[in-house]
Amino acid sequence: MTAVTGENAGRKIWDVRYDISDADRDQVRGWRRPLRVAVSGAAGQIANHLLFQLASGEVFGPDQPLILQLLGSERSVGALEGVTMELEDSLYPLLREVQIGIDPLEVFRGADWALLIGARPRGPGMERADLLDINGSIFVKQGQALDAVASPDCKVLVVGNPCNTNALICMENAPSLPRENFHALTRLDENRSKVQLALKAERHYNSVSRAIIWGNHSTTQVPDFVNARIGARSALEVLAESGSFKGNVAAAQAWCEDVFVPRVSTRGGALIKKWGRSSAASTSVSVCDAIRSLVTPTPRGDVFSSAVCTDNNPWGIEEGLVFSMPCVSSGDGRYRVVGPGDPDCPIEINDWLRNKIGESQDELMSERECTAHLIPNSRWAASCTLRGGNDTWVEGDA
Ligand code: LMR
Repeated sequence: MTAVTGENAGRKIWDVRYDISDADRDQVRGWRRPLRVAVSGAAGQIANHLLFQLASGEVFGPDQPLILQLLGSERSVGALEGVTMELEDSLYPLLREVQIGIDPLEVFRGADWALLIGARPRGPGMERADLLDINGSIFVKQGQALDAVASPDCKVLVVGNPCNTNALICMENAPSLPRENFHALTRLDENRSKVQLALKAERHYNSVSRAIIWGNHSTTQVPDFVNARIGARSALEVLAESGSFKGNVAAAQAWCEDVFVPRVSTRGGALIKKWGRSSAASTSVSVCDAIRSLVTPTPRGDVFSSAVCTDNNPWGIEEGLVFSMPCVSSGDGRYRVVGPGDPDCPIEINDWLRNKIGESQDELMSERECTAHLIPNSRWAASCTLRGGNDTWVEGDA
């Protein structure tokens, strides 16, 4: 096995290819075409977990070779080289090539997946609207680059905050890619929701299903306890019967509304207070879960949450947003949003949910107005009502 290291034409900084022509034929027989996975923010904390999980084969499968295309900034080139060296030292057989660079037009070339983690964190005194603007501009550039050079069916998962609106801006700037291929990460919120329900009900989190997250990845998100299941039963019923509530359904419901929902929606902020930085390992795990949900069939009767484009959605949510909804996948990277009356997975929206979902929708519509100048041919007025208003940024963020 030999590594071919070189500076490519253009602005690519480093490209290491692992030539496996002398590998044991049995080991590589049946391997598929290498998948190109582009990762932005590749020198950051989340990527420092994610890249190793990807390269290990635990996300795309044990017969799926990968080419990692890592995007950083001028400032982070040394760290990118360090990550590449560590990947090399980890002897992952499926890792065929690592490219690093600082120009998305180079790094996103041919990408089958783009995992967009890099975004500027909010600084002291910076309003949510300012951050929307700064990060939005990054996602204009990355959307344009994906449009120009990525695979025509590239799947895009936005993690950098504010991820729903960043994903919207990216999607609107990449008109040649299918709109349904854009996702913003709410799987972390789903995972947080599952563990809180399980702990309170004294059950294992594996027994929790249909733990839907609706809306924005902000404190207006709606962790849905109404449709959640524990085992084969309603989570509320199981909670009410648990030692915590001893049959008192009203108390279980009140706990869900007053404790569970705020706990899940402010978990990111609580973690920032503990760590002094955003969650990294659990975010990376949830990115892997989110991808795996798209590349493996969804178990019958269950759903997963992903923030996706609301065009033609079955819930009457304002179109042209990126909004977390319940999805199922057939395992080929595609998905459909589960609508009302689905025979495999009946989901009901009661008044409490409708009201909360409306609040998150209003927030995303305001974010869209604040960033209308970043959306080509925007149909929405460029007026920003978020400035000076209620701040739904996760508590604890600087
Ligand atoms: C999280 O939910 O942990 C993060 O999105 C929080 C943040 O603002 O980085």
